[in-house]
Amino acid sequence: MENKQLNIFIDRLTNSIENKDLVKLVISKKRQNSSDLKKISASIVTLNSGTKLKFVYTHDTKDITKNYDFAEGINKIKHSITNEFFNVDLFTKTENISLISSKKGKIRLITKEPTFFTIESLNHDKIKKRYIKAEGNIYLKELGITKPNGEVFHKKIDKFKQINRYVELLAPKLEELNFKDEIHIVDMGSGKGYLTFALYDYLKNELSKDIYMTGVEYREGLVNTCNEISKKANFNNLRFVQGTIEKTNIDRINVLIALHACDTATDEAIYRGIKADASLIVCAPCCHKQVRMDMSIENELNQIVKHGILKERQAEIITDTLRAMIMEMHGYRTNIFEFISTEHTPKNLMIVGKKSTISDSERKEYQEQIESIKKLFGLKEHYLEKLLKS
Ligand SMILES: C[S@@+](CC[C@H](N)C(=O)[O-])C[C@H]1O[C@@H](n2cnc3c(N)ncnc32)[C@H](O)[C@@H]1O
Repeated sequence: MENKQLNIFIDRLTNSIENKDLVKLVISKKRQNSSDLKKISASIVTLNSGTKLKFVYTHDTKDITKNYDFAEGINKIKHSITNEFFNVDLFTKTENISLISSKKGKIRLITKEPTFFTIESLNHDKIKKRYIKAEGNIYLKELGITKPNGEVFHKKIDKFKQINRYVELLAPKLEELNFKDEIHIVDMGSGKGYLTFALYDYLKNELSKDIYMTGVEYREGLVNTCNEISKKANFNNLRFVQGTIEKTNIDRINVLIALHACDTATDEAIYRGIKADASLIVCAPCCHKQVRMDMSIENELNQIVKHGILKERQAEIITDTLRAMIMEMHGYRTNIFEFISTEHTPKNLMIVGKKSTISDSERKEYQEQIESIKKLFGLKEHYLEKLLKS
């Protein structure tokens, strides 16, 4: 069995292992009854000898555990699904993927929403890592997430998980950039500053990074409150300024963040990041009104816009697809993924662009693809394009 679906599956598996995003993999449904082996499960484990793939071979009456290096483990998985078993289910933090083979040799690849959105632990001890500690945390108390004794309020548990998940995701991306000196981070539309405080705290106090962070927010009351909390927490290099995303004057932006900035405010933030030549742009879009209102489909896709909810979802997809493509066109290698389960927030997409280089021919190709998508959906201009032209 050597086929396109298998190759796609192995690519996705390899990525999930390399990104430590694999939760578990289960190989099942034996092709022949040649032994009492029922299924094979695999997960990532950290041992003294390094990070490995842990295989558990489940037999009728016993389980046998073996650890392999990643490359060897991937080869074993490929061999098992090609020769020994019909089905394999891969569970990652961002998706579930099943590869199902039939007796006649047909193969189907099915992708579904993720069942698990965090890995319990990469270690044997199964202690869940919290990036931000609740105990003795001044800003979490001031923001109403924790009680004075450090216990998280029951109704704030989701917010606390979201804060940790966000730091868990962003901290390695910042570390990858390998900044040698000061890092200037701007959080556009910082709101109450939950995530701004948490990221600053982790980078400064856990990773000892030389960071300067600014939250930009147009609601003055929030800016004042956040500055007071920052002072109480002794966060000397974290400040909040009152102003708009588009116009606030910021000298240096190495990393630009915009989480749930409304509608085109996300475009304004991306625009600021591109213009400042930021090394990293991270945004979680909020509502997507501009494309929804400007879209005018006059081809067979018009059935989509007949239904309000489908039009809305389609507009979200087109908005964020074009954002990512425009970022790519400006040299940002871009990823879009769900950063937290929908049970915690429905606005859970994250767009991450890392500054790289792009050839003239790639840029031209992106431009052509952007134009054809816009034509297909009857869209004259994406707001981000308009900003970049100005
Ligand atoms: C939904 S809140 C998100 C707050 C925060 N980023 C978070 O994720 O917790 C969006 C914030 O962005 C601010 N905002 C929206 N558009 C803005 C703009 N153009 N300039 C400055 N702030 C803006 C709003 O006032 C609001 O506080």
